[in-house]
Amino acid sequence: MAALKKLGILLSGRGSNFEAIAESIKAGRLDAEIAIVISNRADAPGLESARRRGLNARLIASRGRVREEHDREVITALKQAKVDLVCLAGYMRLLSPEFVRAFPNRILNIHPSLLPAFPGLDAQKQALEYGAKVSGCTVHIVDEHLDHGPIIVQKTVPVLETDDEHSLSARILEQEHIAYTEALRLMLSGEVKLQGRRVVRKNARAEAK
Ligand code: GRF
Repeated sequence: MAALKKLGILLSGRGSNFEAIAESIKAGRLDAEIAIVISNRADAPGLESARRRGLNARLIASRGRVREEHDREVITALKQAKVDLVCLAGYMRLLSPEFVRAFPNRILNIHPSLLPAFPGLDAQKQALEYGAKVSGCTVHIVDEHLDHGPIIVQKTVPVLETDDEHSLSARILEQEHIAYTEALRLMLSGEVKLQGRRVVRKNARAEAK
């Protein structure tokens, strides 16, 4: 039997996407193991949740540190844990180019909008204020630009006239939890490849017209 693929999870806060991934593994929906969970914040509930689950959970605090130096420590921990994929799950830090190059096309991020619309902070608020009628979430490969790399999975949700930031965020979050597992399954399956910016199935055939 092939060895289980190892995931490294980076988070800074609540950690619901991390928990959704952990639950997918537990339920047999995802063939992988979480080799390490790293938080850059001591007070992240996600870090506590990782500890409770008995996972290899580490605090590598970032406050007041030079980005490159902090990133190097994180890279070392991920390499020691021999991770195959790095999952950013509410990790509120920009990655240095060195970090991105250390795991080429092997870092994933989830963003609460349909990229390329509304990158950056407060994406749900941006979508509401813009007047978008549809929003959603995007799981993408991380490159050296913010919320920019190739798209693996997107899920849409309607924006209702009665929505506020809270209700829209909750509707999107439900889809995030589904989307991350789907994206991981695809990436770990070995069945997809990059064609320019496009993530496509290796054996994709022309669809009948
Ligand atoms: C999610 O909305 C995610 O899309 C964004 O940060 C939030 C993290 O939530 N990148 P959680 O910590 O996974 O609950």
